[in-house]
Amino acid sequence: MTGVRHFLDLSDAGGDALAAMLNDAIDRKAARAGFPKGKADSDAPLAGHMLAMIFEKNSTRTRVSFDIAMRQLGGTALILEGGTSQLGRGESLADTARVLSRMCDAIMIRTDDHAKIEELARHATVPVINGLTDRSHPCQIVADLLTVIEHGKPLPGLEVAWLGDGNNVLHSILEAAGLMKFNVRVGTPKGYEPEAEFVELARAGGSTVLLTNDAAEAAAGADVIVTDTWVSMGQAHAEEKLAAMAPFQVDEALMAKAKPDAIFLHCLPAHIGEEVTEAVFESPQSVVFDEAENRIHGQKSVLRWVFGQL
Ligand code: CP
Ligand code: NVA
Repeated sequence: MTGVRHFLDLSDAGGDALAAMLNDAIDRKAARAGFPKGKADSDAPLAGHMLAMIFEKNSTRTRVSFDIAMRQLGGTALILEGGTSQLGRGESLADTARVLSRMCDAIMIRTDDHAKIEELARHATVPVINGLTDRSHPCQIVADLLTVIEHGKPLPGLEVAWLGDGNNVLHSILEAAGLMKFNVRVGTPKGYEPEAEFVELARAGGSTVLLTNDAAEAAAGADVIVTDTWVSMGQAHAEEKLAAMAPFQVDEALMAKAKPDAIFLHCLPAHIGEEVTEAVFESPQSVVFDEAENRIHGQKSVLRWVFGQL
């Protein structure tokens, strides 16, 4: 629908808007320091606005952070679980989009097939926001970039190392790299590389992308080390995959390959002893709970952007 700002992927916003979102998030976070978490920001810029959140997969952070983000912006959110709404009984996405567009001001959806979110957006007359699909997780990366900046690391020229599975979170990191001009060192086992489309997107934006099957090479000299679960939602727990991932576990030896002041990110939930050791997860270099909190602050700016306020 022309004129409606959807946020299906980071490129829908582009680099300038993403930079504006990050600045806005930093400013708004500072402006409400000390407020109780459910209290609205002084200007309540989305007063009266209603966000519908559809979950066809589990969530803790995305669910809570969007709800709190809407409250802090002066609005409200409601949840539709895939299994208990008529979507779960086969009502079409097209009709769901048209109904929710009449009742709510924006729709956030977490689902499996990315084609579903595109279908929803085609029929919605209000903004649609991607709360994770099998292909990408753009809201997560807004929070990640905010966390990196807060820890004193400007994005241009930054070396971000990814270890493990070439999944939805990595896809959005690659997309962000091209937009914000940082470089990505991707360490995955053979056969678990990210989709080439995202690597090309990063390179087309001027980012340098290293693809390697050697974990130490990926981590070498990095400013930021990132990993995620080896088994994403909807994937089978295949022994073969877990065995292939083992050399990519982020442990202290791997962290030592990065710069001495490198930080560790993980979107959570984490599987200690699989993709990361407890020693790294609990170390001073680990900023995963800042990252989790920043889901609220990043998404407030995403919400302001889809409503044309940024
Ligand atoms: N990182 C993240 O999206 O967490 P949830 O699955 O808990 O929403
Ligand atoms: N890659 C993970 C991210 C969870 C937030 C998944 O899709 O399950």
